[in-house]
Amino acid sequence: MALSAVVRRLALSVILATASAPIVTRAFAQGGGGGPPQQQPYENLKYFSKDLPRDSLFTIMRGFTYALGVKCAFCHVEEEPAQAGGRPRLKPALDDKVEKRTARFMLAMVDTLNGVTLAKVPQRHEAVRITCVTCHRGSPLPGTIETVITDAVDQFGADSAIARYRKLRENMGNGRYDFSEYPLSVAARTLAGRGKADAAVAILTMSQEYNPNSADVDMQLGDIAEKQGDKDKAVARYQAAWTKRPNDPRIRAALTRLGKPPA
Ligand code: HEC
Ligand code: HEC
Repeated sequence: MALSAVVRRLALSVILATASAPIVTRAFAQGGGGGPPQQQPYENLKYFSKDLPRDSLFTIMRGFTYALGVKCAFCHVEEEPAQAGGRPRLKPALDDKVEKRTARFMLAMVDTLNGVTLAKVPQRHEAVRITCVTCHRGSPLPGTIETVITDAVDQFGADSAIARYRKLRENMGNGRYDFSEYPLSVAARTLAGRGKADAAVAILTMSQEYNPNSADVDMQLGDIAEKQGDKDKAVARYQAAWTKRPNDPRIRAALTRLGKPPA
């Protein structure tokens, strides 16, 4: 087996490992007699081997849809049905959609990451391999909840960002995002650092609703108020933090700095 074929087989096993659903086989158009089964030849494979059984290819394709949270037509051209009410036909051999071409690029990228880049890690954990889902986690564009929030604030404002977060959180089923308090704190810090203190406060106020016992959220709100010169509000927030986490030296220092050292 040529080296590139080995690499491909490896990449394949990795992708297959992420695809869970069993696949309906309409793979082989069985040739008669005793020879190897014949399958309809592929028209336009540039990455995968032309000998790849059709059912394996479909398993990989299903893996893509799962990893990116998309349908086949995200990457493949769909032809209008011949008659009204008919089903659209997938034309998977066409390269017209940029998404398909990007996916091919990504396949090569993943090979490079696993086979070349990570190979240089000192004392590598061999079993840890990057797959599509490692980055994409169910989204066509990989992102964290921090970036979802900060992008939404930048584009549509804090109210929209908060509405979006609430909606995503209601459907948190597939583990795509981390809904703990920490990403919200990171997003708020990013926003505050960019001069969007009001948006940061709005995000943290929502966070407090979901994380009522968090002293850190109070601390962060106190810090923003302090930087805005609102001393009373800052003291109130630091005191709330102190109630939730008594004797914390950082909270003590903040209150002392503002002339209200805790008893
Ligand atoms: C993320 C993009 C993406 C998604 C989603 C996707 N595919 Fe593909 N598909 C590709 C790429 C890229 C190739 C070409 C691989 C190559 O060049 O070796 C391909 C090739 C194919 C081929 C081979 C076509 C040929 O003859 O050359 C078939 C069949 C196919 N896909 C079916 C599907 C089906 C069915 C689905 C949905 C279950 C699907 N694909 C979802 C990216 C995708
Ligand atoms: C190391 C992280 C990483 C891995 C692994 C990865 N991707 Fe991506 N993918 C990205 C990034 C980042 C982008 C956005 C690229 C850009 O800036 O346009 C992206 C974009 C894409 C897009 C375009 C989406 C769009 O809306 O335009 C497709 C399709 C895609 N990836 C498919 C795949 C497939 C298939 C795999 C597995 C073979 C894969 N990716 C593995 C990081 C990754």
